[in-house]
Amino acid sequence: MESSENQWGSRLGFILATIGSAVGLGNIWRFSYVAYDNGGGAFLIPYFFALLTTGIPLLILEFSFGQKMRGSAPFSFTKVDEKWEWLGWWSTLVTFVLISYYSVIISWSFKYIYYAFSGAWGSNPEAFLYNTHLQLTSGIGELGGVNLSVLLIVLVVWLINFVIVYNGIEAGVEKASKIFMPILALLMLIIVVRGITLPGAVEGINKFLEPDFAALLNPGVWLAAYGQIFFTLSVCFGVMIAYGSYLSEDSDIVNNAFITALANCSFSFIVGIGVFGILGYMAAQTGQPIEEVVAQSIGLAFVAFPKAINMLPAFNTVLGVIFFVALGIAGISSSISMVEAVSAPVMDKFNLSRKKATTIVCGLGFIASILFTTGAGLYFLDIIDHYNMQFGVAVIGILEAVVIGWYYKAEVLRDFFNPISNFQVGRWWDIMIKYITPLFLTYMLIRSFVMELNQPYAGYPVSDLKIGWIAAAGVLIMSIILNLLPNRYDGLVKNETDL
Ligand code: TRP
Repeated sequence: MESSENQWGSRLGFILATIGSAVGLGNIWRFSYVAYDNGGGAFLIPYFFALLTTGIPLLILEFSFGQKMRGSAPFSFTKVDEKWEWLGWWSTLVTFVLISYYSVIISWSFKYIYYAFSGAWGSNPEAFLYNTHLQLTSGIGELGGVNLSVLLIVLVVWLINFVIVYNGIEAGVEKASKIFMPILALLMLIIVVRGITLPGAVEGINKFLEPDFAALLNPGVWLAAYGQIFFTLSVCFGVMIAYGSYLSEDSDIVNNAFITALANCSFSFIVGIGVFGILGYMAAQTGQPIEEVVAQSIGLAFVAFPKAINMLPAFNTVLGVIFFVALGIAGISSSISMVEAVSAPVMDKFNLSRKKATTIVCGLGFIASILFTTGAGLYFLDIIDHYNMQFGVAVIGILEAVVIGWYYKAEVLRDFFNPISNFQVGRWWDIMIKYITPLFLTYMLIRSFVMELNQPYAGYPVSDLKIGWIAAAGVLIMSIILNLLPNRYDGLVKNETDL
């Protein structure tokens, strides 16, 4: 068997790759705002609760499921029962949709490295982002043109993804992770140290961590914690199942899951301190209250940060470049895991070589990305992301927990991974998978639904939001079609008995 193409070379390599997948744009621009907005320091309580009751149990489930079945998500579910193959495809296709715009955001980070050199965003980074960089149109009805320079960078992002995944697990993904992760840690450390040593930083950090314990009585805060844990650990996207399938048969599971989760969450926390240090500085400089300067997502990375960079006392260009390089690296180390999670099922199902499968996936992915480089790209991104993440991932999480917990039986999987793990988990794991995870997620789903019915997402016209529902439903229908297509899994099953 081609060992390096489909097997990790070392435990460290595996861990760095899973951390690379987990640590992404979300850790830099989402965690700190969600925490601040949902009880500050008190948010850490539901956050750790969600981590221990759902995040880590699902991570253990996905690593060991892939390792046991020795295949990507659709293949692994087929081995439970052929009628569940579509569930594996569903998470795969949700991931495909996710990379199609995630890679465009990475391209923006790359372009901002260039802007940082020249200070191109000037004194009004907000106007610069929307008018000059994105050339945003008035709504999704007005597509605008494709932004050619962004498209070119998107092509480069896809080429990077392609080259890394094409080279296989050990020589591609693992090697890239070993290079990217230390660089990312170092760059973020520089940003954080600079952030916390600025005047006004302490006030910002206080705002971030000030515990509002009353928030714990609000169910919305618990849901935010669950949502953040899912997104940040990359569970229910087929990624960790695929990565698990490249583990050797006796690799540790439980400890690896804890290490990945804790490293990822510590990273978010430390970056959060740096981000709020910088926001505190901005507030102090402009005399505004912190509430006025906080931002998240695109607004944090491409508006608030450029503003802060403008105000820094020294080394503005260098720090700007460092920030956007870090954002780009965090993005790429996640996007390669997405490309792997989509290519692996294509290899499995159609018995294609890695080279052919990655070529097809990256080619189609690049084509799909084009939509997000148009003048209306940001609207499409926002709407499609909302439905893809809010509904798709929650339903997949419920079904995954139910199928493995009840149908395959949590005990059976636990009996498989406990003996090979450095330390064992007890019956609590079964309870989390069988009861707690599905119950919490069902509640979350119902609540999101009700909220959606009461108030259309982000004030978009209802007709625009249809595109989100269509994309979400399209992904589900495609998964069922893929389930119905004849497969070439026989070849793979034979391989497994050869082992
Ligand atoms: N964890 C990533 C982040 O925080 C985002 C993400 C969600 C992801 N799902 C994924 C990354 C699947 C890789 C694969 O930015």
